[in-house]
Amino acid sequence: MSTEPVKLAVVYYSSTGTIATLAKELAETAEKAGAEVRLRKAAELAPQAAIESNPAWAENVRATADVAEATPEDLEWADAVIFGSPTRFGNIASQLKQFIDTLGGLWAQGKLADKVYSGFTSSATAHGGQESTLLALYNSFHHFGGIVAAPGYTDGSKFVDGNPYGTSHVDAQGNNPVDDVSRTAARVQSERVLRIAAALKSGLAA
Ligand SMILES: Cc1cc2nc3c(=O)[nH]c(=O)nc-3n(C[C@H](O)[C@H](O)[C@H](O)COP(=O)(O)O)c2cc1C
Repeated sequence: MSTEPVKLAVVYYSSTGTIATLAKELAETAEKAGAEVRLRKAAELAPQAAIESNPAWAENVRATADVAEATPEDLEWADAVIFGSPTRFGNIASQLKQFIDTLGGLWAQGKLADKVYSGFTSSATAHGGQESTLLALYNSFHHFGGIVAAPGYTDGSKFVDGNPYGTSHVDAQGNNPVDDVSRTAARVQSERVLRIAAALKSGLAA
């Protein structure tokens, strides 16, 4: 049996900080549970002028300046990866997609397979495309040969947040900061990913 801690990468893109806040909650939960954690942001693609035109975006860039940018090596390193993206017209943000599109080399070597994957999102409105965003993200996990660990309704709290596909928050365009319901969803998801990743890691090592 492997007694090595699970290595978890939390890889996200966030413009105005909602996804960054959830990413931190997921990462801190995993650290408390004994995992080795890399919190990583996808590189920004938007022009500086666009960022500066939105105070919340500029503030988030400042607040997360010390978060390292994701590289393919972070995925190679990880036993489990949780990706996060805001909902953009019912899909993931181009910045996260751009990062995913750099993974072809690892994919071709089979190095994305046999890891545990899960995802989280946020949107401005309820029913604003959260589930379609998570399912779009999960398409890629199947191509990786990954083990998709969605939260399902495996915890009583899932009947409160109501999204079995992954943690999701409705931010009402910045008027509804990440709350206890969404933080609980993030904790439950992080712990579930770690449990499954630990079992898989032990099983593969045996
Ligand atoms: C280009 C663009 C498209 C968006 N599309 C949607 C959408 O389809 N549905 C929705 O409810 N919110 C949409 N939003 C709002 C964001 O998903 C939402 O504010 C999200 O919580 C922002 O996350 P962040 O603070 O981490 O950047 C969109 C925002 C942008 C900039």
